[in-house]
Amino acid sequence: MSAASREERSGPPGSFAKRVLVTGGAGFIASHVIVSLVEDYPDYMIVNLDKLDYCASLKNLEPVSNKQNYKFIQIFHLSVPLSLRTSMFMVLMFW
Ligand SMILES: NC(=O)c1ccc[n+]([C@@H]2O[C@H](COP(=O)([O-])OP(=O)(O)OC[C@H]3O[C@@H](n4cnc5c(N)ncnc54)[C@H](O)[C@@H]3O)[C@@H](O)[C@H]2O)c1
Repeated sequence: MSAASREERSGPPGSFAKRVLVTGGAGFIASHVIVSLVEDYPDYMIVNLDKLDYCASLKNLEPVSNKQNYKFIQIFHLSVPLSLRTSMFMVLMFW
């Protein structure tokens, strides 16, 4: 399916085909992964969970920061809540 046809299928929040959780998403590698996922899969909700450590930066994520299918959550606890993990189609961990 082309990106254009996926774009047409994307709807309001809550109607996404799948949800993908990326941890450490404000880091060097994962930020680029997130930008690609958000742009290539507009019908997927991409959730970025990062504690914003000293090495983190939201700069690389600016191109997608206002996209409907992207959400950033800053966490302070060291583990990913089980309820969040089990509600996801895929979890990509970069920390
Ligand atoms: N960059 C490389 O060349 C390279 C090579 C081989 C392996 N790796 C490994 O890949 C992973 C990512 O590398 P990177 O260079 O993108 O790292 P990075 O340091 O740029 O980013 C790590 C991110 O993880 C976040 N983080 C740390 N602990 C967290 C926690 N408990 N919960 C949520 N977020 C947390 C940080 O805030 C940061 O944004 C690391 O495990 C690294 O060891 C990196």
